[in-house]
Amino acid sequence: MKKYAFQLSGKEILQLDTALTYDDVTLEPEYSEIRSRRDVDLTTKLTKRISLNIPIVSANMNSVTESSMAIAMARQGGIGIIHRYRSIEDTVNEVKKVKRWRTHVIEDPYTIKKDATMEEAAEMMHKYNVSGLLVTNGRQLLGILTSRDMKAAEILESKLVAEVMTPFENLKTAPAEIKQEDAKKLLYRHRIEKLPLVDDSGNLYGLVTAKDIRKIEEYRNAALDGKGRLLVGAATGTDDDYLERADALVKAGTDVLVVDIAQGHAKHALKTVEELKKRYNPTIEVIAGNVATEDGVKRLLGAGADCVKVGIGGGSVCTTREVTGAGVPQLTAIIRCVEEAKKHGVPIIADGGIRKSGDICKAIVGGANTVMLGNMLAGTDESPGKIATKNGRRVKVYMGMASEEANLQRTDKKRTDDDLTDYSPEGIAKYVQYKGPVEPLIKKLLGGVRSGASYINARTIESYRNGHYFVRGTSAAMKEATPHAEGED
Ligand code: XMP
Repeated sequence: MKKYAFQLSGKEILQLDTALTYDDVTLEPEYSEIRSRRDVDLTTKLTKRISLNIPIVSANMNSVTESSMAIAMARQGGIGIIHRYRSIEDTVNEVKKVKRWRTHVIEDPYTIKKDATMEEAAEMMHKYNVSGLLVTNGRQLLGILTSRDMKAAEILESKLVAEVMTPFENLKTAPAEIKQEDAKKLLYRHRIEKLPLVDDSGNLYGLVTAKDIRKIEEYRNAALDGKGRLLVGAATGTDDDYLERADALVKAGTDVLVVDIAQGHAKHALKTVEELKKRYNPTIEVIAGNVATEDGVKRLLGAGADCVKVGIGGGSVCTTREVTGAGVPQLTAIIRCVEEAKKHGVPIIADGGIRKSGDICKAIVGGANTVMLGNMLAGTDESPGKIATKNGRRVKVYMGMASEEANLQRTDKKRTDDDLTDYSPEGIAKYVQYKGPVEPLIKKLLGGVRSGASYINARTIESYRNGHYFVRGTSAAMKEATPHAEGED
């Protein structure tokens, strides 16, 4: 029978399992037949049903993931999880921005009436940041108004859209079921930017744009849903407006919901997972967490989770272990949780504590299917927040979500003085160096993961996750693993 710490004698305590984290170990190199990084396929599972093309997920934190980060992540083949610390309306808009970024067919293009004024049209184009509007009467397509038409016309704000638009009879259109390749040919042949799709009666079905086609070609490794839109996830909590938020996020098109709670090994977390699964099953999958033990995984899977997020207190801005004494060093937590998750074929996200590409390699060898990054992505152009200058360095703010700073910034719910009096933060806020755009950074990390594969002969993430060995180092080994000059101490 399992004994708990308070039941153990002093001698027995000395025999407790040792728990390890990334820097405690290295991967034992193996005979390899991999010659090129290109031989390594990084496709992996996020949830039971959703696949990603790279094993990277951006953290649901307010200084890491909103639409810009989520777009950049999915373009590269990963996914971003939009945080839950803004109003429902704002969060929904962030999800929609990701979903609108690219698609095979825009099913709900922006439209305007023919008797609207040019001033109204210009305002609308500016608001939605688009270069053209379809002119409709109900579902009937009457024409198109593009910024090119507007430049060509003598611009009078009071002029009506009908006077400036290209009318239906002069418009190149295509049937709704046109193939992407054929749409591309039409766009290029007629040197047009927008191709409206219509049925036999001239009713508008959708829109294909040359811009979308360019995006599709530029980002061939993007992680996409069935409609060719970027994948995105979004978080909800376990109290207050959590159900209303989840409903709105699902309606906005989120591909996956994350139940975001620091201690996911809890009755209310299980109840929420069960509730969400029942509500949206089978359409929306649920990622639940965070936990750090086999029992945590078992219970969340029992509640219906489609993926479990593992990590308590290992994040770079976490103080949970200092404040509460609780947590499990991350590599041990991953290995233990994966043991349980593997029995059910459910993927694991290793969340927090990743500082270099080698840590990603170790998390995957430990059995994780993906890693969640906060610190490494904070400070990039795509993370929310402004660039500031501190002591001559360009920096951005990175906040633990349980830090005092994040708590004061929350706009998702009203804070009372009582909420703050006995509040003991379990995170910190800090400045991180400004890092420029996130895409080169991700590429570099993936380069490391691919090189790592060549040391253990792993051509796929599945083979990465199976049958390799860690060796445990001492503090001298850790020192040896980082750059050091000969003769120096
Ligand atoms: P990294 O190391 O990538 O970790 O910065 C990101 C993860 O840290 C967790 N997180 C927190 N944990 N207090 C905590 O104990 C906090 O305030 C906090 N904020 C974020 C979270 O799991 C995130 O994905």
